[in-house]
This record gives sequence, structure tokens and C-alpha cells, in this order.
Amino acid sequence: MDNSCLHSDVHHSEWQSSNMCARSRNECECDHEVDAAANNPATVPEQNNGSATDLVVLGLGYVGLPLAAEAVSSGLRVTGFDVSDRVVDGLNQAISHVDDLSSDDVAMMLDQGFSATTDPACLATARTIVICVPTPLSAEGGPDLGAVTSAAKAIAAHLTPGTLVILESTTYPGTTDEVVRPLLEESGLVAGSDFHLAFSPERIDPGNPTFGVANTPKVVGGLTEACGEAAASFYGRFVETVVRARGTREAEMAKLLENTYRHVNIALVNEMAIFCQELGVDLWDSIAAAATKPFGFQAFYPGPGVGGHCIPIDPNYLSYKVKTLGYPFRFVELAQEINGRMPSYVMQRAQELLNESGLALSRSKVLLLGVTYKADIADQRESPARPVARKLAAKGATLTYHDPHVESWQVDGVDVPRSTDLEQALAEADLTILLTDHSDYRPKLLSEYARLLLDTRGVLRRSEPEETAIAAGVPTQERRRIQREGLQVL
Ligand SMILES: NC(=O)c1ccc[n+]([C@@H]2O[C@H](COP(=O)([O-])OP(=O)(O)OC[C@H]3O[C@@H](n4cnc5c(N)ncnc54)[C@H](O)[C@@H]3O)[C@@H](O)[C@H]2O)c1
Repeated sequence: MDNSCLHSDVHHSEWQSSNMCARSRNECECDHEVDAAANNPATVPEQNNGSATDLVVLGLGYVGLPLAAEAVSSGLRVTGFDVSDRVVDGLNQAISHVDDLSSDDVAMMLDQGFSATTDPACLATARTIVICVPTPLSAEGGPDLGAVTSAAKAIAAHLTPGTLVILESTTYPGTTDEVVRPLLEESGLVAGSDFHLAFSPERIDPGNPTFGVANTPKVVGGLTEACGEAAASFYGRFVETVVRARGTREAEMAKLLENTYRHVNIALVNEMAIFCQELGVDLWDSIAAAATKPFGFQAFYPGPGVGGHCIPIDPNYLSYKVKTLGYPFRFVELAQEINGRMPSYVMQRAQELLNESGLALSRSKVLLLGVTYKADIADQRESPARPVARKLAAKGATLTYHDPHVESWQVDGVDVPRSTDLEQALAEADLTILLTDHSDYRPKLLSEYARLLLDTRGVLRRSEPEETAIAAGVPTQERRRIQREGLQVL
């Protein structure tokens, strides 16, 4: 593989020019001044700073902390660096602030030598530095790389020859090379010849009981071949499968492709849910039927909108980059429009369900079940529950919520009262809207106690212990059918 274009010493200030280079890489004969060092893996020196730490993780949140935990358990000496005193003090007192790790897990990390600090001096003794800081949207809706640039500046101030620096934060293609690299090189060291630089997208799925850091394949793209090798060898110490992407841009794009794919497919079924309701077609049944195809189809399900830190945000990073080419990324814009309208559609369906029972939304008690963005975690970031609640409150509904993971919940600064007794709350509400499918929300319980129920997650379509129904000889269609008037799925 000819990587000479990737290894160009030319600093690509224009994404377009570097992208053109990437596109023509197979037959690339471009005349950029090629960095000889970058093509020679041997030229990145061994570290000579008496490294006290194998790894420093910058940013100890949902991504950084599980990474640090996995590295610690594989025997690496790990330090966590974060700008938040609250996060650092909490971790040093063995208090976890993320769903995927308990405080006992953090205590175990501390026992195995982990410590957290707000002092960037720890960066000077690290063999590998991994950046896991947030990449939110700016006020204008574009990328806000403030945390990434400040992390890169902190590293540059302490960078030593031979260090491997990896960016994991989700971002647009070109960030590692065009934004992070120049900042790191302010240290006087050159990427690819004095230190290694790579991008490796984080794929963590908070609350997923099956896939974690160790058994989710890790994509790695190096600035140079040697950078990629160094990063692959680092992750290979505690991740089962490492996948080499061609370069940093391809690795950056892989992550955005994954999330855009989900965003677009969720929008597809959301749009279908709206017209299937009018056509009298049971979309949930159609999805279940289509999902029996053993190839060429992946099931996605309708819902009240998209939430979390990835799906509603990451595609914006890509559409921002596409806009610099002078045209829009139409699939993303359409998906945003459709998914962004779902809270209004939920409100409309709620209103219709109440009307059918002769009730007005403005005089109704509405219980919201689940306010986090996904099941069985406490993370509320970008949860569609908030826009749904805002719209219902604006129409005069009296709201309460139930969520086993959220002790208090505010919408636009106003506290929404919490119900803790699920059965009582279901029985007292005129209408219950299920927004997050926490495992506490069993179909049988919901159908027994709720007066009216709008199930936006298809929980009612999940059979009660399947084995019981199968043993009783209940046909599949029967098991899936909603048993009562007043219960609807989206
Ligand atoms: N949460 C997810 O499910 C998920 C999944 C895949 C990818 N990602 C991506 O991973 C990145 C991190 O996300 P997260 O969910 O872990 O964020 P988070 O908000 O949970 O944690 C980020 C941490 O970084 C710290 N921080 C901010 N600026 C810093 C700096 N300059 N130096 C050191 N620490 C700093 C914050 O104090 C915070 O503790 C983002 O780019 C996100 O898009 C997140």
C-alpha cells in the first residue's frame, strides 16, 4: 500500500485538498514533500523518560473511564487526567459517576494502581495518551472542538519523544491530522517521526451487557503505517480484535458512518410509523416479519425521537464537513427533520388517545415512564423525553414521571414530580406514555394497571417470558397482540 500521501509533511489546512489526496491514494503520485521519517517506522524513537505510566486517559467520562478500567485490569499502569475536580475527587474516593462501572469497580481500579488527577504534568511520563474528551455541538449547531484542542495543547506542553497519542473522541474526518497534529507539533516534535499519532473511534454502548471495551472490535487508523501499528499493538493488549483502517480519516469516517447509518434507519421507521398508523398497517408486525430474513435486512424500531450523545450529534459533524464542499448531506438533514418531529407526533397520538376516551390533554394527568435516552441507564443527554414533556406541558397536561434511574428531573428549570410506586402511578394517571423501555416496565404490569397507555418503544410487542407462552401453545400472533382497548403502540 502506498501511504505516501498520508505521510505528507504538508500540513493540510484545507480539508478538501487532503481529501483529494486520500481519494487518489491507490495510484497516488502527488508531489507533496514526503516525510521520509513517516515512512520509516524505525525513526520514531523509543521513549527515554523513565515512563512511570503506560497510559494516561484524558477525559474520564462514559468513554474514558471504562477504557481506563479495561487497561488497568490488563495490568497496565494507568493515570486518569480530567479537568473536573468533581470527577477526579470522586474517582479518587472510589465513587463512580458512569453507568457501566460501579463504585466497587473504581475501588478495584484504585487498588490496582489507578489514580485520577487534574495535574497535566502526568502527561510527561506517559507511554500512551488517549484523548476521550467531549465533542458537543456549538451554539450554531456545528462542531465544538474546544475540549479536543485544549486537550491537545495540554499534551503538547508535556509531550516527549516516542509517545503514542490517540484521539478517540468522535469527530469529522480530518480532525486528527488537521487540528490535533498541528497543536501537538507546537511541542517542537514531529508527528510520525518523533511521536506516533492515531485515531481510534470509541464504540462504547452504555448499559450493553454483552459488548464492552474488550470484546468490541477496535478500529485504528494511524497517521503513518508505523503510527497505526503502534496504536494497534497498544489496544491489542486489552481488546480482543483490532481492525486497521487505512488512515486517520478512514477511522474517523467509520464512526460517523456507523452513527449516521443508525440515525437514517431510525428516521426511516419513524416516518413509516406515522403513515402506517394512517394506513391501518401494524408496522411492528411488519418489522418482525421482515427481520426473519436471514440476510440483507437489519431491524430498526420507531421511537419518540433519538437521544444520547451520539446519534443526535455525530451526524452533524459529518454534515458540517460536507457543507464545506458547498452542498448539503441530504440524508442526514432529512433524518434530523424526521426524528426531530417525533416528540410532536407523540404528543399528537397522546391527544388522540385521550380524545377517544372523552378526555382533554389540558385536564389530564399524564405519567411519563422513563426519561433517560435509552433503557436501563441513567444518562439523560439529549433524551427525547424532555421535548415530549415540554410539548405536553405547553398544552396544559399535568405531568409526573417514573424512572428507576433518575431521582429528580427538570424540564426548562421546572421540577417534574416523581412517582416511585409504579403500580399506583399507572393506576392514577389518565394516560401513561412509555418513553424508555427500562426492564422494570413489563408488558403484563403495564396492561394490567395503566388506564390508557401509549407505548412508544414497542414494549407491548415483547411477549412475557416467551417460553411460558410457547409452552402454553399460544400462537405467535396471539402472543404479540395487544390485549385491551386503550393500549397503543406508536
Ligand atoms: N457516551 C457514549 O456513549 C459515547 C460512545 C461513543 C463515543 N463517544 C464519544 O466519546 C467522547 C467522550 O464522550 P463521553 O460520553 O465520555 O463524555 P463525558 O462528558 O461523559 O466525559 C468527558 C470527560 O472529559 C472531561 N474533559 C473535558 N475537557 C477536558 C480536557 N480538556 N482535558 C481533560 N478532560 C476533559 C470532562 O470533565 C468529562 O469528565 C465524545 O466525543 C463522544 O462523542 C461517546
